Amino acid sequence: MKPDLLSLLRIDLPIIQAPMAGVSTAALAAAVSEAGALGSISVGAGDATQGRAAIADVRRLTDRPFNVNVFCHRPAAADAAREAAWLDYLAPHFAANGAQPPAALREIYKSFVDDDDMLEVILEARPAVVSFHFGLPDAHRIEALKDAGIVLLGSATSVAEARQVEAAGIDAVVAQGYEAGGHRGLFDPERGDPAIGTFALTELVASAVRIPVIAAGGVMNGAGIAAAMRLGASAAQMGTAFILCPESSATKHHRALMQAGEGVITAVTDVVSGRPARGLVNRLFSEIGAPGHPPLPDYPIAYDAVKALNAAATKAGNSDFTVNWAGQGFPLARELPAGELVRLLGEELAQNGWVPRQASA
Ligand SMILES: Cc1cc2nc3c(=O)[nH]c(=O)nc-3n(C[C@H](O)[C@H](O)[C@H](O)COP(=O)(O)O)c2cc1C
Repeated sequence: MKPDLLSLLRIDLPIIQAPMAGVSTAALAAAVSEAGALGSISVGAGDATQGRAAIADVRRLTDRPFNVNVFCHRPAAADAAREAAWLDYLAPHFAANGAQPPAALREIYKSFVDDDDMLEVILEARPAVVSFHFGLPDAHRIEALKDAGIVLLGSATSVAEARQVEAAGIDAVVAQGYEAGGHRGLFDPERGDPAIGTFALTELVASAVRIPVIAAGGVMNGAGIAAAMRLGASAAQMGTAFILCPESSATKHHRALMQAGEGVITAVTDVVSGRPARGLVNRLFSEIGAPGHPPLPDYPIAYDAVKALNAAATKAGNSDFTVNWAGQGFPLARELPAGELVRLLGEELAQNGWVPRQASA
């Protein structure tokens, strides 16, 4: 038997609102946690000062457990020639929007694997849960977080990654299927993407590891959560389902695209940030990502270029280069306050045969 995930996380419902850099907010995480699920914020795309403020913002709104997510990618390797060639490639798009490309690109945020300041902030704030994306930090950091009493989650896109998560002493593994919105949690994108769907991955990982499994990718309602649990998951992590909540910071354009109906599709591209991620297809995917483009700068240096292009285009009134991460299930997202959405998911779970712990005891 796997350890009981809900007791470990101190939550009532088997639902984790996914951390979503740029979209999740303190208000969203707090509303989800107040409703008995686990809210999350992502501090991966900022520095330690921003991380400290983001954690304090959630604390002001709830006493319940919540999750703080960090990125554990291989630190970026700068390559001036590659970055200059990439900016040359993008130059016509800047010009079409009345702008010049930036003179150079930066590593716009650090990996947690070598961010001592972020580690210090987290050890000081001691959130109930910390989750890792893109890999794992070293044993010393994991031990320090565990010694502080923090429950740890690690994402995996394959059985091999899930085994690494378990071997590192992480408490539970997030099995992220190919349907999932946002960045693929691949430990090493250069080794290729197994592109395994959520159902197959959940079942494979659940039978390969002893720690609890959290299914992520395309889970949009109680029926989906119950289905994942029948395949061996202890809970579901849901991102796209929460994008339309008023508490999220998704832009009007992102929300409108999600609600535009047939004709909008998702795809995975690496040209936005330098790592594969799933979002709503626009000219970033179809034109910048068209076959034959030059080699990409490292993650997240490539992101700096797209952010600059998007800023220039937006200034010119053009939303063609916006970044709108979303999973394949996006047409099923419901526009509800987060607390109401969590309560509805709980009702749907009950209709699908899920029995709350108190009732089953
Ligand atoms: C807008 C958006 C942003 C995301 N940002 C993060 C992030 O910062 N950290 C992370 O671990 N996962 C992130 N993800 C991926 C989620 O953790 C999760 O794997 C995914 O949302 C599950 O698939 P779903 O979107 O179909 O529910 C993001 C997903 C979305 C949709």
